[in-house]
Amino acid sequence: MKIQRGADKILRPRVLVTRKLPDPAINRLAEVCDYEIGTDQGVMARSDLLESARNVDGLISLLTDQIDREIISTAPRLKVIANVAVGYNNIDLAAAHQRGIYVTNTPDVLTDATANLTWGLILAVTRRIIEGDTFLRAGKFSGWDLDLLLGTGLTGKTLGIVGYGRIGRAVARRATGFGVTVVYCGRDDIAFRDDPQHNAHLLARQTGAVTGAFNQSARLDGLSARRATFNQLIETADIISLHVPLAAATHHLIDRLALTRMKSTAYLINTSRGPVIDERALIDALNSGKIAGAGLDVYEYEPEISAPLLTMNNVVLLPHLGSATRETRSAMALLAVENTIDALSGRVPRSVVS
Ligand code: DGY
Repeated sequence: MKIQRGADKILRPRVLVTRKLPDPAINRLAEVCDYEIGTDQGVMARSDLLESARNVDGLISLLTDQIDREIISTAPRLKVIANVAVGYNNIDLAAAHQRGIYVTNTPDVLTDATANLTWGLILAVTRRIIEGDTFLRAGKFSGWDLDLLLGTGLTGKTLGIVGYGRIGRAVARRATGFGVTVVYCGRDDIAFRDDPQHNAHLLARQTGAVTGAFNQSARLDGLSARRATFNQLIETADIISLHVPLAAATHHLIDRLALTRMKSTAYLINTSRGPVIDERALIDALNSGKIAGAGLDVYEYEPEISAPLLTMNNVVLLPHLGSATRETRSAMALLAVENTIDALSGRVPRSVVS
């Protein structure tokens, strides 16, 4: 698509927006920059991306664009890569860093939407909401029955939150309304999950043998959430919800062994990134009854969905909708534009990743 130029003749920064964004974001970008939109829908073709990246100062990308070393090296003028997502595993951070290119993301604005969808998945899978809808539409509802599509109650159960950043905490805050107890693992508890010293220290603090800020509970809006080791969490939680970024330390965090350690009544929820779960191992665990069910918004080979998942009743599958509200997507787009303008105006972007 042709570069959209401002009316004046002053040399303005040029920005490639890989996919059309909501109008308010584009209008804001046009106040400061000339821009090119890669595609109106879907994903910009890689060959076009390589070509267009040559002459731009800024790049606004989506999580479906692979901004790797090759793309970065073809863009000699590039100063900022602004991802319209909180996750940034689609960007080669090291390559960007070497070139002094800012990488930015869109935190905060999608926290509530993603936490709400997480609870949507928890409720859908434990209360068999999608199954009920399908059953009714198939004309099978012949009247109320005492044991029709019985699900699992939440009151008194334990929710294990893996990754206690903004979204993990927002999921925890919502738990009070459901009478659910929260346990969580933070970044270090995940990174050092196999380190006996780290775990021993954490266990000692839980029993009160050691005191300090590293202690048992994090108080958030009146909520008491107990910090646990990774193994404690996966062995005791009735619902396990994943809220970690995808990185080397979290790739296949939920592997065959972790699934074996879960309760046979446990549900696994993933609104983070697909490769955090070993999907083959998950399918085997669901098939063999090692766990009770799963609510998935993301997939290891996204957008491919492993075929067996499509046939399972104890799984709810969504097409990566975590942040998919009009309000949230508009706010994400606008934040990515502001990050771009910040960088191209000589300021440190407001939500810089590296
Ligand atoms: C993100 O922002 O990383 C989500 O996965 C997409 O909204």
